[in-house]
Amino acid sequence: MKQYDNILIVGSGGREHSIGWKLSNDTKKKVFFAPGNGGTEKNVEIDSDDIMKLFEFAKKNNSFTIVGPEKPLSLGIVDIFEEGQLPIFGPNRNASRLESSKVFAKLFMRNMGIQTASFSIFSDPNSAIKHVHSSSKNVVVKVDGLAAGKGVFVCDNGNEATEAIYKIFVNNEFTNSGNKIVIEERIYGDEASFIALCDGRSIIPLASSQDHKNILDGDKGPNTGGMGSYSPTPLVTENLSNKIMDKIMQPTIKGLNDLGIKFKGFLYAGLMIERGSNEPYVLEFNVRMGDPECQSILPRMDSNLLQYLEAAMDEKLESMPPIKWKDKHSVSIVMASKGYPGKYQSGKVIHGLEFNPDDCTCVFHSGTKKNSRGEILTNGGRVLSVTSLGDTLEGAKNRSYSVVSQIHWGENEEYYRNDIALKGIKYAI
Ligand SMILES: Nc1ncnc2c1ncn2[C@@H]1O[C@H](COP(=O)(O)OP(=O)(O)O)[C@@H](O)[C@H]1O
Ligand SMILES: [Mg+2]
Repeated sequence: MKQYDNILIVGSGGREHSIGWKLSNDTKKKVFFAPGNGGTEKNVEIDSDDIMKLFEFAKKNNSFTIVGPEKPLSLGIVDIFEEGQLPIFGPNRNASRLESSKVFAKLFMRNMGIQTASFSIFSDPNSAIKHVHSSSKNVVVKVDGLAAGKGVFVCDNGNEATEAIYKIFVNNEFTNSGNKIVIEERIYGDEASFIALCDGRSIIPLASSQDHKNILDGDKGPNTGGMGSYSPTPLVTENLSNKIMDKIMQPTIKGLNDLGIKFKGFLYAGLMIERGSNEPYVLEFNVRMGDPECQSILPRMDSNLLQYLEAAMDEKLESMPPIKWKDKHSVSIVMASKGYPGKYQSGKVIHGLEFNPDDCTCVFHSGTKKNSRGEILTNGGRVLSVTSLGDTLEGAKNRSYSVVSQIHWGENEEYYRNDIALKGIKYAI
C-alpha cells in the first residue's frame, strides 16, 4: 500500500471514536475525524457525506481514510478515492448495495443459497396487502433503501403489516427508499452480530457480539440505533461460528466475486439464530462495523488493527494470523438523551466524565460536542457509550453500570437500559 502520513476517520459516532482510540494505540500517526464529536481530538469540520471535501482533505494531508457509516459508502466514496489513487478502507458503491438495497441483498442470498427468511418483493400497495392477507405466518415489512434503522416493521398480525404498507406506499414516508419493499417471514429466535474483515477474497472473523436494539428493558418498545452490546456472545459457539463462515460469509464473498464485485471492508451479517433449530438466518447485511458492537469488540482486540486494515487493502489477509482477543468479556452501555428515539433536548453539560480511567473502562462519545469553555455538551439521541472489560460478563456489566451511574447531564435527563448483557448471562447458564 502507498505510504501515508495521517489517518482520517469518516463519521461522528461511538463506532468512529472507538476505531480512532484503537488506531491511536496502534500507531503514532495522527488520527483525524470528520466531523468527529466532543470526545474525539483532531476534528475536521467536514460532513461525513461531503465526499469532495473529504477527498481534498485526504489528498492534502496524505491520509489513509477509514469510513465508519454506510451513507458515504453507498454514495461511492471508495470509488471516488480509488479513482484519485487515495488509500481508503471500505467497500465500493457496488459492494455496498448489500446494505443499501434490501431487495438486492435478498435476491443475492436466494441465488447463493444463503439461509434467509423466505420473502417476496412488491412495488405497489394492492399486491402487497393481498400477499399479507393470504399469508398464514407473521411477516416483517422492510423498505428497500437506507432508512437509518427506521424502515423495518416487525408485525404481530396482518393489520400491522397493512399499516406499514400504507405508511410506505400511500403516505410515502420513506420517499425513494420505499419505492420497493420486501415482505418476509418473521423468524423467532435470538439475534447475533457476526462481523468479519474482508480483502475481496479472504475473510478473518472478528469476535462475536450482540446488540440490544429496542429502547426499553426486555427488548420492548421501538427500535433504536442500538442501546448496548457485549462481546463475545455465548450464542455464537465455535461450531456455530464455523458454520456461519462456511455457509454465509464465504459464499457471500464468492458470490460477489462471481458478479465482478470485490468486497473490501467489514462485512456484517445480522443474524437470527432460530429458536429450536439453532440455525443462523441472515436478517440483513451491513457493509461496515456495527454501532454499538464496535465499542464492545475493539477494546477486546489484542492485535494491531491498523496492520489488518493495511493487509485488507493490499489483499494480503490470507498471510495474516488470526486476530488475538483478550480473554475478557466486554459490555458497552449506551447512554441516551431522555425521549430518544423520539424528541429529545440537546446542549446539556455532561458531568462525571472526569472519573479515573483505567485500562478496563472506556467512554466512547457519540452525540456530544465541546464548547469554547471545554465543556462537553449533549448533541444527539445516543450520547455516549461506556465499555468495560471483566473476567466475567457479569463483572464487565457491573463495572460499566457503576461508571454509567456517575455520568449525568441534568435531573433525570439521561436514559439507559438496565438489562444490557443480561441475555448473555442467561444463555451461558
Ligand atoms: N425476518 C425477521 N424476523 C424477525 N425479526 C426480524 C426479521 N427481520 C428483521 N427483524 C428485526 O428487525 C430488526 C431490523 O431489521 P434489519 O433487517 O436488521 O434492518 P435495519 O437494521 O436496516 O433496520 C432486526 O434487528 C430484527 O430485530
Ligand atoms: Mg439491522
